[in-house]
This record gives sequence, C-alpha cells and structure tokens, in this order.
Amino acid sequence: MESFLIKGGVPLHGEVAISGSKNAALPIMAAALLTGEPCVIRRVPDLSDTRFMARILESLGAATKLERGTLTVHAQKIRGYADYELVRKMRGSICIMGPLLGRLKQARVSLPGGCVIGARPINLHLKGFQALGAKIKIEGGYVEAAAKQLGGTILFLGGRAGSTVLGTANLMMAAALAAGVTVIESAACEPEVVDLAAFLTAMGAKISGAGSPTITITGVKKLHGAEHEVIPDRIEAATFAIAAAATNGEVTLRGARADHLRALTDKLNEAGVAVERRGENLRARRRAALKAVDVTTLPYPGFPTDVQAQMMSLLALAPGISIITERIFESRFMHVSELARLGADIEIEGPSAIVKGGRPLSGAPVMASDLRASAALVIAGLAAKGETQVNRIYHLDRGYEGMDAKLRKLGARIRRVEEK
Ligand code: EPU
Repeated sequence: MESFLIKGGVPLHGEVAISGSKNAALPIMAAALLTGEPCVIRRVPDLSDTRFMARILESLGAATKLERGTLTVHAQKIRGYADYELVRKMRGSICIMGPLLGRLKQARVSLPGGCVIGARPINLHLKGFQALGAKIKIEGGYVEAAAKQLGGTILFLGGRAGSTVLGTANLMMAAALAAGVTVIESAACEPEVVDLAAFLTAMGAKISGAGSPTITITGVKKLHGAEHEVIPDRIEAATFAIAAAATNGEVTLRGARADHLRALTDKLNEAGVAVERRGENLRARRRAALKAVDVTTLPYPGFPTDVQAQMMSLLALAPGISIITERIFESRFMHVSELARLGADIEIEGPSAIVKGGRPLSGAPVMASDLRASAALVIAGLAAKGETQVNRIYHLDRGYEGMDAKLRKLGARIRRVEEK
C-alpha cells in the first residue's frame, strides 16, 4: 500500500487545473447503459472509481474506451445482473440500477452494504422504483427489480436526511424510459444531478426542473447516443481552496465554477479566506487572520458533507471554538482521531465536532479512512510543522486525480512512497 510523505509548512502558490467531477461522471457513465448507441463523455477524471465504473459497465456487456479524459461507452447489448464482487467495492455503483431497470425492465444488483461514513441505505431508491411499477425482491444479498412496464407517477423522494443524490439520479434514469410523466418531489438539487439531466436530455430524454426540488420527466420510447462534457469537480476545487488557506498561500483554481461553490465561499469568507473570481477562474487566499466559524452540512445548496473533513482541518488552525455539525452521514468523523494525532483539539458531541482551534499542528503518521477524510489529513499535513505520513492513500486515488502531482506543482513537498 502507498502513503504520502508530506513536509509541511510550505504555503501553496500557483494555479491548479480542476478535473471533471467524480460524482457527476459516475451516474453519467451509468446513464450510457440506457442506449444501444455509442456515447462520448468528455472530461472524465482518471480515478480508480471511474475506472472501476467502466469495469462494471463492461461486466454488463458494454464496450468502453478511456483516452485522455474522453470515455466512449457502447452498450449495444447488455445484461441486467451485477454481482457482489464488483458492487461492494464502490457504493456509487448502485446508480447502474436505474438505467438497467429503465432499459431492460429488470435488474439484479448486489446490495452495496455500508461504508465507513455511515449505513448508506437504498430504501429511497427502492421506494422510487416501486412507485414506477417495479416489483422489488431482496434475496441472498441481491436486490431484484422487475416490471412488465414502468409507468410515470408522482413520488416524494425525501428521506430522514433530506434528499438523496444517487436516488434522484437512479429515478431520473429509470423514468426517462417509463411510459407517461414522473414527478420527483424533494429531489436532490446538486449540480451533479443537473449535469446528469443535461446528458439525458442530450440523449433525447424529456426532463425539466433539474436543480430544483421538483423534477418532471416525460418518458420516451428510446434514447440515443450523445456527447457530453462533465462539470468541474466542486469538491476538488473546495479542497484546493482550503489547502491554500490552511498553508497561508494563494492558489488559482482553473475552471472551478463559482456558482457551484457558494456555501463554501460564504463560510470561508466568514473564516477570513477570500475566494474571488479572477477572469474565468477563482483564486483562494487568506484575506485576514483565520477565525473560528460554525458549519452545518446540508444537501445542496447547503455546505457539502464532502467538504466537512477538509474544513475541519482548516478550523483546527483558526483560534477560537468552531462547531461542525454533520447532518448527512452520521459517522463521518473518522478523521477526528487522526487529526488529534497531529495536535488538533477536537471533541465529538453527537452529530457535532467541537474544534478548539489555533493549536499548532505537528507532523505524525496518520491513517486515511475514507476519501474526504484522507484529503483532510493531507491538508493538515501540509499546514503542520515537520513530516506527516498519510497511510492508505488508495482512498484518495478513488476521488482525486493526481493530487500529489497537483500539490507538488503548487510548491508542496509531498511524495508517494510504499507504506513502511
Ligand atoms: N439515504 C437514505 N436512503 C436512501 C438513500 C440515502 O436514507 O435510499 C440517506 C443517506 O443515508 C444519507 C442521505 O440520505 O444520510 C444522503 O445520501 P445520498 O443518497 O444523497 O448519498 P449518495 O447519493 O449515496 C452521493 C455522493 C457522496 C456524497 C453524497 C451526499 C456519489 C457517487 N456519491 O452519495 O459522495 O457524500 O451524495 O452529497 O455521488 C464522496 O464523494 O466522498 C461521497 C461520499
């Protein structure tokens, strides 16, 4: 297994190109299953998760080719069965279920199981498929959905934590080929959902309201091949903005979309960090001394849960008490005990972490537990005095394209080594 060795204390300076969004690319790749014609998807980030999704598509019968960020998927003939060995490795693979059900009217997909950030149920996905007329059976660790025909309906998709991103994606994809009109109420408003709707529309789907809590899909008989460019990754952009602030540097985020980052830039501004437009790009730097702030994660347009851990690293450096409340995933605090190893003073109280910021951080070996927790540890390591070894960085490689190379270009002293 590989680790990052980071010599901290160097302010990041320069420009970083933001890659295509992982969480937009994954469902868009799955959507290519909805047609027998070839689809071309541009700006697909080269990550272990996107490569893995390509393997899943292949296991279902599709041909895929990834070349310099452009992925071609040709799902001429597919089967509707995805086994445990594939699905368990990536929870996001559940988004193949909607397109399989839409196109084949049946799907048999292994239940993804939980993951380190929480239970991650799929009850809302299943409720939605049922509302479209599918019969659902759970047996031997697999969920089977089958319908003679899918029919449009009005359905409320809200759950205990609000909307569901992949649930909305799954329902949109299945409903695209259902007979009649489907209305999803309490739909997720994330930019990744809007991007998927744009791709589906390019394939011939009839969708309105994506980006709002009410999405209307008028089913069509058939979808055709399409080309699409994936949106820039707002979570990667946020991660680099926070890294710039944490190291007291100045970083230009090439291609980042300000309109996707409002909750973050608002919070950063309150904490003393400016994220300003510079032509087509955004630039992040401290504009004042860091200040403690309170953060609550919420569905979009609220503060993203996928940036909670990174923000915690920054707030560990801000003098005063910050309260970070996690409303989306109940146990997404695995980074807290690792940040403590670097000297951070953080206590967990129910769904909140109380960060007593301003203590100096010093390098230590730490263990990455999930993708965003790993990013938080890298940020803390960049800001800490001395050497930090972040172990198990395969988590990072799932969702950040060449993070070490990008950081080195910004001046960071970071290298990839075999875990000792
Ligand atoms: N939920 C249910 N029932 C369901 C589905 C979800 O109760 O059937 C709950 C979840 O337990 C959670 C909340 O609803 O409390 C929101 O979960 P959501 O379904 O929106 O998450 P997801 O679609 O499975 C995507 C991203 C995650 C990101 C979340 C929230 C992908 C591939 N994954 O997951 O990304 O944290 O939305 O924004 O798009 C990451 O990139 O590190 C990551 C974990």
